[in-house]
Amino acid sequence: MSASDPIALFDPLGQYRRLKSEIDSRIAAVMAAGAYINGPEIAELESALAAHSGALHCVAVANGTDALVMALAAEEIGPGDAVFVPAFTYVASAGAVRLAGATPVFVDVALDSCNIDAEDLERRIGAVKAEGALRPRAVMPVDLYGLPADYPAVAAVAQAHGLTVVADAAQSFGGRRDGKGVGALAEITTTSFYPTKPLGCAGDGGAMFTDDAERAERWRVMRTHGTDASRTAVMLGMNNRLDTLQAAILLAKLPGLEAERRRKDDLAAIYHRAFEGMVSPAPQAYGCDHAWALYTVRTPRRDALLHALRAEGVGAGIYYNAPVHLHPAYRSFGGGEGSLPNAERLADEVLSLPLHPELDDAQAERVCTAVIRALE
Ligand SMILES: Cc1ncc(COP(=O)(O)O)c(C=O)c1O
Repeated sequence: MSASDPIALFDPLGQYRRLKSEIDSRIAAVMAAGAYINGPEIAELESALAAHSGALHCVAVANGTDALVMALAAEEIGPGDAVFVPAFTYVASAGAVRLAGATPVFVDVALDSCNIDAEDLERRIGAVKAEGALRPRAVMPVDLYGLPADYPAVAAVAQAHGLTVVADAAQSFGGRRDGKGVGALAEITTTSFYPTKPLGCAGDGGAMFTDDAERAERWRVMRTHGTDASRTAVMLGMNNRLDTLQAAILLAKLPGLEAERRRKDDLAAIYHRAFEGMVSPAPQAYGCDHAWALYTVRTPRRDALLHALRAEGVGAGIYYNAPVHLHPAYRSFGGGEGSLPNAERLADEVLSLPLHPELDDAQAERVCTAVIRALE
């Protein structure tokens, strides 16, 4: 790697090269055994993910979006129901609510954590109740960029109003809050194994977590066309299974996940020190182990910084350049411009920088130099 080579925002290929022998032998074992759907790697992965997270049950599914739709549908959350979703997230969170037939109600986020603001949640629940058109049923905190949301605060509001907490942890598997793993922080948690997530496969994948055995069994039935062990269709379901090959790849990667997370902690510390006073640092929270899906700073000079970094070969990206309520597909569910001010401000100011386990210290220093030069 020369000092002028581009620095990628993500490097799944570099990770594959590093873990090639474990991944290739796991793939070869699946190919040789021939159980391409529901092979033994699925149950092995589910046990390993449950153990890693601290949740009692894990159900592997096809992707993080299906996981959210299934989580809502299995609670019979649908038409006429309100699901409270942060306005600053990937559109899939709100999309899943619509796909389940329910109505997303957008909640503002806190500027420092970029995660759902429990006080605004309380206000929005009150407004829905006062209007009387929708039944408040669930809240979907999102662990944006890999930082676990403020689950204790969200749970207090949810409990007071009888809402189910469905955690969208697509970006945070491997993270922790107050010593508890992501997967065990809410009554229902979903995650994604999209290749650039903290734990990523080589295609699409996802998982669902709960401590409730009956709920986990419903998810297993749902992911297989609603059929039970005797192949009787007992409920509406779909084909939402994870492929055995993807499970095998995840099994090869899971043992190294915590070491990768710690490596990213060290890289984040380099960035924190270098950027002090120049940009608002990437969100962190006391008592949280960050999963670092993205290292995201905030500056009003975001667009100039993005162009300067790209000109220097530093992979930088914007996650996300519009809050969900201002996307055309979701405008009818929100109050338009000015209705969710923090989410709107973040969309104008956030910038994500390379922070992945393949990054070496010299590359991190190059990113720092490029950021400082651009902002001086
Ligand atoms: C916050 C969030 N929710 C949901 C999803 C959907 O996950 P998937 O791409 O696996 O369907 C993603 C990722 O793409 C995400 O970042």
